[in-house]
Amino acid sequence: MSRRPAAQRFDGAAVIITGASSGLGAALALAFTEAGANVVLAARNEDRLNEVARRCVEAGGQPLVVPADVTVPADCEALVAAAVERLGRLDVLVACAGLSMWARFDELSDAEVLRRVMDVNYWGLVNPTRFALPHLKAGSGVLAAISSVQGKLGVPYHSGYAASKHAVQGFCDSLRMELAGSGVGVLTVLAHWIRGTNLRQYALGSDGLPRGDHAAAHGSGAVPLEKITRRILNAIARRRRMIFIPRWMRLFTWLSELAPPLTDRLIRKRVNREATGTHRSA
Ligand SMILES: NC(=O)c1ccc[n+]([C@@H]2O[C@H](COP(=O)([O-])OP(=O)(O)OC[C@H]3O[C@@H](n4cnc5c(N)ncnc54)[C@H](OP(=O)(O)O)[C@@H]3O)[C@@H](O)[C@H]2O)c1
Repeated sequence: MSRRPAAQRFDGAAVIITGASSGLGAALALAFTEAGANVVLAARNEDRLNEVARRCVEAGGQPLVVPADVTVPADCEALVAAAVERLGRLDVLVACAGLSMWARFDELSDAEVLRRVMDVNYWGLVNPTRFALPHLKAGSGVLAAISSVQGKLGVPYHSGYAASKHAVQGFCDSLRMELAGSGVGVLTVLAHWIRGTNLRQYALGSDGLPRGDHAAAHGSGAVPLEKITRRILNAIARRRRMIFIPRWMRLFTWLSELAPPLTDRLIRKRVNREATGTHRSA
């Protein structure tokens, strides 16, 4: 008997997950496998993809590993082609690859950090979507963009990250309207901080380098991976258009419209608590 409610079964579905070598993408790979899907795992680090694939095999899946850089259109074209060749169709594209930053804008020596973050988070969604769309249309599939509450709110030390996630939201909201009647669903996942991923360690600092292991640990409000994967699978199955994780985060976006200075103060206080010592004084 199925351990999941009917809405969360994906038996035989063909699912591409970018950013599958780590964190949320890896957890989604496992969750989709457990829900009966055939997963195609994409990211740049092949060793880590193979490790995730091994866990999917243990869970009863037959994953396909396709090393790909989502900022390179040719890689994304090859990724979609490999998925369709193996599985004969494409039902879900989960655009999960992501890169963060943790630096004040006025401390950056140039704009390269913002360009790199935009490249992965925004173009890394656009590129695979371009090649996946004909197949999603053919099977009335779903595009799921893993975004952030920073797609709706500004956050200090994250100017480029918040900008990239706002771009994701604008792209998805526009695409959804263009695809009305096509059968394709477009979901944006607006998540709060997630516990158990590497995003913070790989976030770029003001020197343009990953912040590394000294990156600040998440506070108690961060969402555990198992909770977020369950909500995402459910939202895809129900063809939702936008979800906030946790749900109360939606109230925060309303508050930002009603009382912007108050919201700014609350966000600054919270982010300063999460930041390293240098940021605390900022
Ligand atoms: N962690 C959070 O607090 C949080 C909160 C809200 C939203 N999110 C979003 O959740 C998503 C997943 O992030 P995570 O937290 O799981 O971070 P993570 O553990 O650092 O995973 C990031 C993934 O993106 C891949 N990636 C980065 N650049 C890539 C590129 N150029 N081409 C292909 N893949 C690339 C990485 O793989 P390779 O290095 O092997 O390429 C890795 O698999 C991101 O979109 C992030 O913005 C995270």
